[in-house]
Amino acid sequence: MSASQIPPILTNLTTGMLVGERIAESRRTVGDLVGYWSDPEAARQGGDALLYGTQTWMPAEDGVEGAILWGNTVLMPGSVGGEFFMTRGHWHEKLDRCEMCVTVSGSGLLVLMDESRNTWVEQMSPGSTHYVPGNLAHRTVNTGDEPLVFMCAWPADCGHNYGSILELGFGRRFFVGDQF
Ligand code: NI
Repeated sequence: MSASQIPPILTNLTTGMLVGERIAESRRTVGDLVGYWSDPEAARQGGDALLYGTQTWMPAEDGVEGAILWGNTVLMPGSVGGEFFMTRGHWHEKLDRCEMCVTVSGSGLLVLMDESRNTWVEQMSPGSTHYVPGNLAHRTVNTGDEPLVFMCAWPADCGHNYGSILELGFGRRFFVGDQF
């Protein structure tokens, strides 16, 4: 099949779930992110609990210049040592590669950080649509009591750098009871 013959898929606009061909899935548990939490021991005890799942529609391979990928994330509600459930977060390796996200359901925060580690948030609620400039690290946090579901579109060649987030984190953490 050539690149001009990509069959459409279905995006369920109520649930955010994708159905069709070329859809990759992944899951992360609380324990998978053990080094990212403020309380690693609590994360070890949380171990196998589902933290988030993703589906990614890959009309092109990862890394193809000019291609766009589309996917969902379902970030579960909960906390680890009082810290709200969150995604790992990343920088794009190519800092001019931007991303766009729209919230399907739930409530939470899109956390953004610049290269000087200034960190701020955008509120996520159904329909909120977010533009992530390529030079900002980004992570999502579920501050609600139901799954936070959102869709994103991003350039296939943006690259993902998780290492510096693991090492340094973001400039701010988000705990139950805090005001955002
Ligand atoms: Ni990204």
